[in-house]
Amino acid sequence: MSNSFGKNCTVLHESCTTALERSDFAPRIDLSFLDPPFNQDKTYNAWDDNLPPEEYWGWMRDICAKVYAVTSEGGAIYFMQREKNTEFALQCLRDTGWTFQNLIIWKKKTSAVPGMKR
Ligand SMILES: C[S@@+](CC[C@H](N)C(=O)[O-])C[C@H]1O[C@@H](n2cnc3c(N)ncnc32)[C@H](O)[C@@H]1O
Repeated sequence: MSNSFGKNCTVLHESCTTALERSDFAPRIDLSFLDPPFNQDKTYNAWDDNLPPEEYWGWMRDICAKVYAVTSEGGAIYFMQREKNTEFALQCLRDTGWTFQNLIIWKKKTSAVPGMKR
């Protein structure tokens, strides 16, 4: 299922894992914003947020590789992650062909897990 808003915006109601396999995207995507579940054991209805780390990072590598395959030359991915996962996120991006360019730190004061340390 999908909803279109104007001629340039469509919301797909399906797993990104399967949606990204459709060749009609390639190689037209210039920017992806990946904000996945962070595997921090939150209680969600639709997915397991407490996967074994190998399985979770395997899933992230699969998605990052699929996004890479449909991204135009010069295109980019913004990959949101918990700060404790920075090393894994960088490794995941390297493993899937991406060139690391910037680390953006977002100090989110309203987070459910607020940062109290410097
Ligand atoms: C950290 S939240 C991101 C929230 C979103 N950026 C926002 O601001 O509302 C993780 C999101 O990943 C979505 N999600 C989980 N598995 C997915 C999948 N296979 N394909 C696409 N989205 C998925 C969930 O529905 C959830 O909304």
